[in-house]
Amino acid sequence: DSSRKRLVIGNWKMHGDTAFNTELLTALRTGIGSAPQCEVAVCVPFPYLYQTRSLLEGSGVTWGGQDVSQHEKGAYTGEVAAAMLADFGCRWALVGHSERRSYHGESDTVVAAKAAAALAAGITPVVCVGETLQEQEAGHTHAVIDRQLAPVLALGADSVAKLVIAYEPVWAIGTGRTATPEQAQEVHALIRQRLREAGAPQVRVLYGGSVKAANAASLFAMPDIDGALVGGAALMASEFLSIAAA
Ligand code: G3P
Repeated sequence: DSSRKRLVIGNWKMHGDTAFNTELLTALRTGIGSAPQCEVAVCVPFPYLYQTRSLLEGSGVTWGGQDVSQHEKGAYTGEVAAAMLADFGCRWALVGHSERRSYHGESDTVVAAKAAAALAAGITPVVCVGETLQEQEAGHTHAVIDRQLAPVLALGADSVAKLVIAYEPVWAIGTGRTATPEQAQEVHALIRQRLREAGAPQVRVLYGGSVKAANAASLFAMPDIDGALVGGAALMASEFLSIAAA
């Protein structure tokens, strides 16, 4: 649907250092120009937010964090508040990435609370959902997506309208095994249906999982895929810029 502005977000995960980042961010800044056709963003490790802001300010690329605390402030050692992300000019926060869900035990309710915390600070949460290989093979994909979405949709139409959803089948993350465009579209259509029912049909739904320059255009051709959340390929300027161009 052309009325939803395309969005491509790079998730650097736990990669980078100041020298590497300077090179990558400078290349993105130059490559994207000031008036890109689609929205382009990078979600970087927290220690590099200051550097990222310095290098991207005034460019066509926005930035964000890869996680955010569900708490506003207080005695939460190691956590980063949404207001802190906002203080560093973040436009986005990933929430509920499958790596957070599986390695840090984040429940669907915690993920929804994080989304609410981000919204309260004026940051757009990018809520990640997706089934594991085992769940997919058992035919549980739709049930898993519904379960993960439920507490998020319960935030209410006004909140839901402000977020972004990313569908990342866990079996396609970092495996080189992308969902086919038709497979992804099938789940995106379900998510779109749920968003419609929640009164927020215009929310953007990104696909993530081994997106690269070679498969981006065919994914973006699907009616309910509004962009991508890119891991590995976001660490290579030329690859990431080609995905954005697609
Ligand atoms: O958040 C992006 C992600 O999990 C996909 O990673 O490396 O398969 O593009 P990758």
